[in-house]
Amino acid sequence: MIKDWLRGVQDFFQGRNGWPLRRVVLTPRRGDFGQLVGCKGHEPLLWLVSELSSPKARYAELLWKAINDRVLHCLLETVHFPWINQEDTPMFVAIEGGEGAGKDLLTERLRRVCNPSTTVFTREPGGTPTGEKLRAVLLDPETDMGAEEELLVFIAARTALVRQVIRPALAEGKTVISNRFALSTLAYQIYGRERNDLLEFLRQLSERATAGLPPVHYVLLDVPPEIGLRRVKQRNDGETRFDAEKQAFHERVRAGYLQHYMDTNYGMAIDARQSPEEVFEQAIQRIRQWQQ
Ligand SMILES: Nc1ncnc2c1ncn2[C@@H]1O[C@H](COP(=O)(O)OP(=O)(O)OP(=O)(O)O)[C@@H](O)[C@H]1O
Ligand SMILES: [Mg+2]
Repeated sequence: MIKDWLRGVQDFFQGRNGWPLRRVVLTPRRGDFGQLVGCKGHEPLLWLVSELSSPKARYAELLWKAINDRVLHCLLETVHFPWINQEDTPMFVAIEGGEGAGKDLLTERLRRVCNPSTTVFTREPGGTPTGEKLRAVLLDPETDMGAEEELLVFIAARTALVRQVIRPALAEGKTVISNRFALSTLAYQIYGRERNDLLEFLRQLSERATAGLPPVHYVLLDVPPEIGLRRVKQRNDGETRFDAEKQAFHERVRAGYLQHYMDTNYGMAIDARQSPEEVFEQAIQRIRQWQQ
């Protein structure tokens, strides 16, 4: 991979490139590249970056303009960002937000820049064999379920996920990044379903399911439901039981999220109407801060 990348850059400067000079996908600032230089085990890249990031390098400006999707993707897949490499800083991050907020897209981008040996990615509901079966039931538009059963099934899936995946990974000093976690239950099953009477019940069950976990760091992708639901429609991979809910349900979910995302003292909200690149950059910056 690194060889491909270097060959590509070499070709570019020798005028043999066929790559379009497209818009920079993730605008790298010099400071960011400075941090990349700290990566171990990539001497050629280290040399190249330090060479090209020098303001005196005659082709430096060209490089900033010329980095395109392909170069960037190679770079992201090659380099493990130092912020996620700290092996003795276990941290639990949950990506949250309503339908079509961009959770999957952000999680996928984070996956590309994380060291797979020190970061575990998972999702809720799901992430375990039992949890994935429960997910299928929960999301199936044909499932006929009341608010109580729904809550209990979500908690059952979470209990399995915490026991089988999250707790062991954190105990090994790994970082865990989950697509959805407990904040979703509060937003959907309490606010969305208008079941404030289940709040105490949820609190007790949650305490059991998540006992001993460190505080969750929530990244909330906030988007108006009409935009999120439009994206889900355009994604064209079928409707879930929750997508099919009325707009008022999704408005309540959004209000629940906004009211509670700071509950653990480690929360950030991102305006997810922005481009995927802007969302990614803001999320990464905050995760870095949390890790320091
Ligand atoms: N910031 C964005 N701007 C425009 N389109 C986006 C953005 N983020 C995601 N999308 C697109 O919107 C669709 C929904 O995104 P994604 O599947 O990541 O959302 P999600 O939060 O995981 O949705 P769900 O709640 O249904 O699981 C996808 O087709 C994705 O490519
Ligand atoms: Mg998703």
